[in-house]
Amino acid sequence: MRSMSVSIRAASEVDDALVAAFARLIPQLSSSSPPPSASDLLAIVDNPNSVLFVAEVDGEVVGSLTLAFYRIPTGLKAWIEDVVVDDAARGKGVGEALNQAAIAEARKRGAKNVSLTSRSSREAANRLYQRLGFTPYETNLYRYSLGD
Ligand SMILES: CC(C)(COP(=O)(O)OP(=O)(O)OC[C@H]1O[C@@H](n2cnc3c(N)ncnc32)[C@H](O)[C@@H]1OP(=O)(O)O)[C@@H](O)C(=O)NCCC(=O)NCCS
Repeated sequence: MRSMSVSIRAASEVDDALVAAFARLIPQLSSSSPPPSASDLLAIVDNPNSVLFVAEVDGEVVGSLTLAFYRIPTGLKAWIEDVVVDDAARGKGVGEALNQAAIAEARKRGAKNVSLTSRSSREAANRLYQRLGFTPYETNLYRYSLGD
C-alpha cells in the first residue's frame, strides 16, 4: 500500500478545488476551526515565510500541512502545523511524505531544526512523528487566550 503514488507540492495558487479540499480536510483536524476561505489560503500561499504543502493522489488533494518560518535573534525557526490527511487516504504514507517534504524545505532554508506539537491523544500522529525522527522536547507550552 505504501507504493501508492503520492505527489507533494507547495501550493502556489488557490482555486476552487483547493478551497473544496480544505473544506473536506479541516473538519478532520479540528472541530472548532472553520475551513479556510480562498483569501485565507491565499494569505498563506503569498507569504514568503510559509509553505502550504499539499499531497495529491491521482490529481486530487488528499492531505496538507503548513510549514511556517520566523526569524528570532537565535536563528530561523521552522514549525510544522495543521497536518491532516483525508481519512480515506490514511495509513499509506501520505503523512510521512508531507512531513519529509517540509523537513527538506526547512533544511534548504537553513533552519537548525523543525518543531511541532501534537496532543498525546492523536495516536497515529505521535507514532508517525516519532518514526520520522522527531523527539519529545521538554518545555512548558503556555497559551494566553485573547478570546475569539
Ligand atoms: C496523523 C495523520 C496526518 C497521519 O497521516 P497518514 O497519511 O495516515 O500517515 P502515514 O500513513 O504516513 O502514517 C501514519 C501512521 O498511522 C497509521 N494509520 C493511520 N491511519 C490509519 C488507518 N486508517 N488505517 C491503518 N493505519 C493507519 C499508519 O499505519 C502509520 O503507522 P506507523 O507509523 O506505525 O507505520 C492522519 O492520521 C490524520 O490526518 N489524522 C487526523 C488529524 C491529525 O491528528 N493531525 C495531526 C495533528 S498534530
